[in-house]
Amino acid sequence: MKEEIKGNILNPLPIALVGALVKGKPNYLVIGYISPFNFGKHVFFSLYKKRYTRVGILENMTFSVNIPSITILEETQLCGSKSGRDYDKSSLFDSFYGELKTAPMIRECPLNMECEVDQIIDYDLNEGIIGKVVKSYADSNTLIDGKLDIRTVHPILWSTCGDFNYYHIGARIET
Ligand SMILES: Cc1cc2nc3c(=O)[nH]c(=O)nc-3n(C[C@H](O)[C@H](O)[C@H](O)COP(=O)(O)O)c2cc1C
Repeated sequence: MKEEIKGNILNPLPIALVGALVKGKPNYLVIGYISPFNFGKHVFFSLYKKRYTRVGILENMTFSVNIPSITILEETQLCGSKSGRDYDKSSLFDSFYGELKTAPMIRECPLNMECEVDQIIDYDLNEGIIGKVVKSYADSNTLIDGKLDIRTVHPILWSTCGDFNYYHIGARIET
């Protein structure tokens, strides 16, 4: 028997720390509703208009996507619970910059991407931000023969359609 459930069944999703330069300072927030599309050349995420990070995204029309490991869960939780409006998150991490000079990335995150805003879709209280991926980066120790081995990243997986808890990635399925 099938039962109707609330929500979107596309889960778990890896949570990301999205970064922007707000008034000259890096600011990061947790984004759970984020997805690659256009076969990976773009990303799409949901952003409430009240988020402080949004100020910097609109100011520069750039942002970064950083994948935290479970080792920096504490700092990640701070980014998802405190707003840059009343708490300075710029010194939580060592920020670095790539080709875009206005998209701060997090050195402590094993995976990083710098993006340019392509389109913004208005959904009243929130927006859908579409970004074009400009460049992606990985820590050398996550690469095996030049290829990313996701088991070395230990991303934080978020269940969006159930208990809203975090999960670990499981084992590789050998085919
Ligand atoms: C698991 C998790 C997922 C979240 N996903 C989103 C999201 O998709 N969009 C969003 O606008 N806020 C999301 N948030 C909330 C922001 O991360 C949070 O409000 C943050 O403190 C905003 O920071 P800022 O005001 O400095 O930008 C999420 C928080 C958590 C803990």
